[in-house]
Amino acid sequence: MEKIIINGGNKLHGQVKISGAKNAAVAIIPAVILSDGVCRIENVPDIQDVNLIAQILFEMGASVKRLDKSTLEIDPKGIREPVATYDLVRHMRASSYLMGALLGKFKRAEVALPGGCDFGVRPVDQHLKGFTVLGANHIVESGMIKVKADKLVGGHVYLDVVSVGATVNIMLAAVKAEGRTTIENAAKEPHIVDLANFLNSMGADVRGAGTDVIKVNGVKHLNGTTYSIIPDQIEAGTYMAAVACAGGDVMINNVIPKHLESITAKLREMGVTIEEYDDSVRVIKDRRLRRCNVKTMPHPGFPTDMQPQIAAILTMADGTSIVNEAVWDNRFRYVEELRRMGAEISVDGKLAVIEGVEQLKGAPVKATDLRAGAAMIIAALGAKGKTQIEDIRHIERGYEDVVEKFAAIGADIKKVRSDDPTVKTA
Ligand code: EPZ
Repeated sequence: MEKIIINGGNKLHGQVKISGAKNAAVAIIPAVILSDGVCRIENVPDIQDVNLIAQILFEMGASVKRLDKSTLEIDPKGIREPVATYDLVRHMRASSYLMGALLGKFKRAEVALPGGCDFGVRPVDQHLKGFTVLGANHIVESGMIKVKADKLVGGHVYLDVVSVGATVNIMLAAVKAEGRTTIENAAKEPHIVDLANFLNSMGADVRGAGTDVIKVNGVKHLNGTTYSIIPDQIEAGTYMAAVACAGGDVMINNVIPKHLESITAKLREMGVTIEEYDDSVRVIKDRRLRRCNVKTMPHPGFPTDMQPQIAAILTMADGTSIVNEAVWDNRFRYVEELRRMGAEISVDGKLAVIEGVEQLKGAPVKATDLRAGAAMIIAALGAKGKTQIEDIRHIERGYEDVVEKFAAIGADIKKVRSDDPTVKTA
């Protein structure tokens, strides 16, 4: 096992380049299944969640070539059986997208239900509701979801809750259905727009992505394409939050500033200086930050995937802040870890009340999930003393070269083996 060791207190300076968006890549790679040709996907982040989903396609029979660190070439024609077994998908929560892609291509799909999640339940009732509207039946037996349709016919889906996954999966099932599918109350995240653009580059007819009504006119064939994935707005937000916590002046390159609007607005409200350029943002923090309140909402609201990171900053802001996690039921598991560093946080259901302290102190902590792990890095950078973070596999699932990128902007950070005798425990 490996862990990350951080000695806090360094101000961050220099430049960092943001990689392709994880949550776009884990939707676009399964979407390749729908193609009748070869697809070249560029700006793919080299992270486990993405490599796993590409591995699943390979093991199902697709040809998958990594042309370089961030380019994949996939030919799906070798996929014969639309079945993704538990062995294949058990590590991948985003494997649910295989359902929509396989159903859309083969009119049937058998996908193992992924295991438990790091926070709260990950239901798929809205996904299945959309498949039903398109004419598919489904059963759940021995841990597999089996969906099947004699014919997929477009219909009108009104999502009961704004769901990224359901919006993705219904788009994937609908692009080759007969007629028009309308998805109301659709998610509007940048990765939804990126998926729609990818599908349209293959010859699909998807309109309205980025609004809450998406219309899909079914087509008979989808061709191979070359497509470059958008930059990851949550990775960008994570580095912005790190500067806001540790202090310094960092240029964050390869971003789409519009995707960062809610994050930029919140950091400015706290007193961070942010300069926006065409494809980069400059983040400067040179004074103690003010408290603020945060409520997570579907895009364009403040993203839930930035909630742990902003809470880490607020632990040392001046005053009392309230964080309302309105998307997930149980996304505060990381609070116990911040408390070990001296944070004063109390959690009551979906609300966390944070009393800002002068300075956190380094301590042994663990990453309880992907974004919680990012929050531990952020808190450790702003804390006094040494922090060691265990269970870093969660962090490396979603952040490419995270230790190298932070070290390059001046963080005193390294990755060590947990059983390394030269590392004194904190
Ligand atoms: C996606 O998860 C992201 N994952 C999550 O990011 C992100 O937190 C989430 O969207 C919200 O933005 C990927 O894109 C791979 P949802 P998803 O369906 O699709 C409820 C990260 O850190 N719901 O939008 O699973 C659900 O319980 C990850 O990168 C239903 O009730 O999220 C939740 O309360 C973590 N029924 C809310 O909707 C359903 O059928 C939003 O979930 C589906 C969802």
